[in-house]
Amino acid sequence: MSSRLDVFIDRMVSQRACLDFAIAETAAMAGPVFELGLGNGRTYHHIRSRVAGRDIYVFERAVASHPDSTPPEDRTIHGDVTDTLPETLAGMGPVASLIHADLGGHNLEKNDRFARLISPLVEPLLAPGGMMVSSDRMYFDGLMELPLPAGAVEGRCFVYQKAVD
Ligand SMILES: C[S@@+](CC[C@H](N)C(=O)[O-])C[C@H]1O[C@@H](n2cnc3c(N)ncnc32)[C@H](O)[C@@H]1O
Repeated sequence: MSSRLDVFIDRMVSQRACLDFAIAETAAMAGPVFELGLGNGRTYHHIRSRVAGRDIYVFERAVASHPDSTPPEDRTIHGDVTDTLPETLAGMGPVASLIHADLGGHNLEKNDRFARLISPLVEPLLAPGGMMVSSDRMYFDGLMELPLPAGAVEGRCFVYQKAVD
């Protein structure tokens, strides 16, 4: 049986492997990257260090990140994602090249309910060919779930892609 430490390590290793994979796969796209859930800012810091030439917007209801990992104010979208995702779609349209979501806490049932709630808000934001990396299984109508890259652990991270028209 996996210990909580095993699960935590698997999640972190998987997050990095899936992010690196999706960043590389979408590198030729010009659209912005959306980070949903800043937290301490570790994954934002990782994304920022690896993404070149694309704007990175962070969605967070209560910014409390490490000072080294705090996005500029004009790239921070404050508020609850159930409000800010539809507002962003109305303002920007389906432009995202990559969306990363790490919004959950320790309650797996609550995380799953929230993933079901936001899946239809995330899906229309992706540009054709755009990818989504999530710590929780998502419930998309039209996105394809991709096999995990080497180094990621099944069930600890999920990767989806919108088909190119
Ligand atoms: C697990 S932390 C993210 C950790 C981050 N990936 C890191 O590497 O440090 C989850 C974050 O999502 C934010 N969050 C959770 N639900 C949210 C919601 N409905 N709207 C906006 N932010 C939310 C929380 O405030 C928290 O900062």
